[in-house]
Amino acid sequence: MRLGIISALQEEQQGLVEVMQGAATLVHGMRTYTTGKIAGIDAVCVLSRIGKVAAATTATMLIEKFDVTHILFTGVAGAGDAGVKVGDIVVAEALLQYDIDASPLFPRYEVPLTGLSHFQSDLHLSNIVAGAASGFLETDFETVIDAAERRNFHLVRPRVHRGLIASGDQFISSAGQINALGAALPGLLAVEMEGAAVAQVCFELGVPFAVIRTISDNANEEAAHDFMRFVTAVAACYAFHIVTRFCRDVNGSAY
Ligand code: ADE
Repeated sequence: MRLGIISALQEEQQGLVEVMQGAATLVHGMRTYTTGKIAGIDAVCVLSRIGKVAAATTATMLIEKFDVTHILFTGVAGAGDAGVKVGDIVVAEALLQYDIDASPLFPRYEVPLTGLSHFQSDLHLSNIVAGAASGFLETDFETVIDAAERRNFHLVRPRVHRGLIASGDQFISSAGQINALGAALPGLLAVEMEGAAVAQVCFELGVPFAVIRTISDNANEEAAHDFMRFVTAVAACYAFHIVTRFCRDVNGSAY
């Protein structure tokens, strides 16, 4: 296994490159790819930047130029359901591009000529990352997330959810928008700007992938308020602990 690890923002991958053994970097196409081992797993870490094109390009490069066999996307997302709270974690079962619409030529949300609107993540990889997330919340959460930040963001017994994530080239920051998406997309748990693009590339190239997102906001008018503080003080910590746990668990599993 050679694992590609993608995040949009530097904070969403904080500390991972530093713990890589035998780290080496290569700059290509405005991105820095760092190869090395994390907990014994051969890995390539890269920041995609924000948006579907950036994410699709990055996933393609990882597969075609860096020969990754599996991809893990880790980052933050807005809540897409009232039961999903800031500080919770969503592991994608399927991903959809909510802003693709070639109707009436093709059904709304369908990626033309693939016959698909929902792209499934790899079950085995997703099970391992969801297990790593639960392990983190049960064992590490209270010790590694500062008590003042837990209070500030009202983080009380965060949970792991699994289901639909929708992606689009828009930061959702109005209750009207997120409610409309929730009504249009049954089972929606979270919204972000990259996951479904990675999912489409992985589907087309036959590469198993998983997407894990920490909920940073409610995708309403408050979404941008304290966003970077959350990413730095909370999500960065989640990502580091969950991804390193994930690599340990993958190393101990059938891969
Ligand atoms: N990523 C984190 N929060 C988001 C939001 N509200 N909309 C889109 N992407 C996000």
